[in-house]
Amino acid sequence: MRLRDRRVCITGAAGFIGSHLADAIAGSCELLLVDNLSSGRKGNLAATLKRGRARFVKEDLLGPKLPALLKDTELVVHLAANPDVRSGADDPRPTFEENVVATFRLLDACRRAGVKGFVLASTSTIYGEATTVPTPEDYGPLMPVSMYGASKLTCEALAASFAHTYGMESVVFRFANVVGGRSRHGVVWDLVQKLKRNPKRLEIIGREPGTSKSYVYIDDAVRGILAGVDRATGPQTVFNVGSDDAILVKEIADIVVREMGLSGVAYSWTGGVAGGGWKGDVKRMVLDTTRLKATGWRPKLTSVEAVAQAVRDRLA
Ligand SMILES: NC(=O)c1ccc[n+]([C@@H]2O[C@H](COP(=O)([O-])OP(=O)(O)OC[C@H]3O[C@@H](n4cnc5c(N)ncnc54)[C@H](O)[C@@H]3O)[C@@H](O)[C@H]2O)c1
Repeated sequence: MRLRDRRVCITGAAGFIGSHLADAIAGSCELLLVDNLSSGRKGNLAATLKRGRARFVKEDLLGPKLPALLKDTELVVHLAANPDVRSGADDPRPTFEENVVATFRLLDACRRAGVKGFVLASTSTIYGEATTVPTPEDYGPLMPVSMYGASKLTCEALAASFAHTYGMESVVFRFANVVGGRSRHGVVWDLVQKLKRNPKRLEIIGREPGTSKSYVYIDDAVRGILAGVDRATGPQTVFNVGSDDAILVKEIADIVVREMGLSGVAYSWTGGVAGGGWKGDVKRMVLDTTRLKATGWRPKLTSVEAVAQAVRDRLA
């Protein structure tokens, strides 16, 4: 499959990963940028829209206009989702509707519009508490511990079945935590927001020193998508995308404090749930990215460097 020189629709285009991907391919693709602006911002697409050959449509994937919108589209990159892992523990239905139902509707619209390429943003959380770390793509059994992880695993299965049944080609990216400018969720965003409000005291979700996970910088994630799509063959190809190392939440807090030029900040930990920050929080995650590396891709930043750069992006 190929992502350059194509007529591409990006869903969730006004969000964090979507807008960076749009920036990266705006020069070579004709872009249809779809977003309901529930959390994304049209301003994130300013540079892409200025370059021309890109059209923004405010539309909900749960709305009625999908098949007509996709007429003439060759490839869909599906990034729209409810990416908040925590919220599913309070009420599972929104995650199911916004991730599973929306993805099914999109795949069905692709089938009816004759779209042949489908790229899906999935997540490391589909592995649950993996016993093999770094975790390779063929790890199993897959037992997600959150509604978010379950919803994304379901989306992967739907994409595979559509690919096999209707002659489509699907590429799945299982991302570690992606960090960088324009992100408005996750631990880095949360800690920066809190320290902006009160630079003396920081509440941290979980039990000291927190979970240990891999963080990948947005530029590395976008380069990963481009490299993986180029190399994908067959009905469905799956790639892990992450940095090679992991860091603790405590280390993230220290980096955020340092990058914000603060000192003497008093940390208070909420205590978390069963060793994680919240119900459904995976405690240890590093992805084996051997498969994506076979394309020549490498993450340029480590987890520590990615988090530090993300804080600088946030403050710029
Ligand atoms: N950021 C990460 O660390 C990370 C990690 C793993 C997987 N992912 C996945 O990558 C994708 C992008 O994540 P992100 O961090 O850019 O999130 P984001 O919230 O910044 O972007 C998602 C975008 O989708 C839009 N959207 C949501 N529901 C929609 C709907 N029904 N119709 C149309 N638009 C809708 C939102 O307005 C938003 O702009 C998501 O699928 C997410 O699950 C992200």
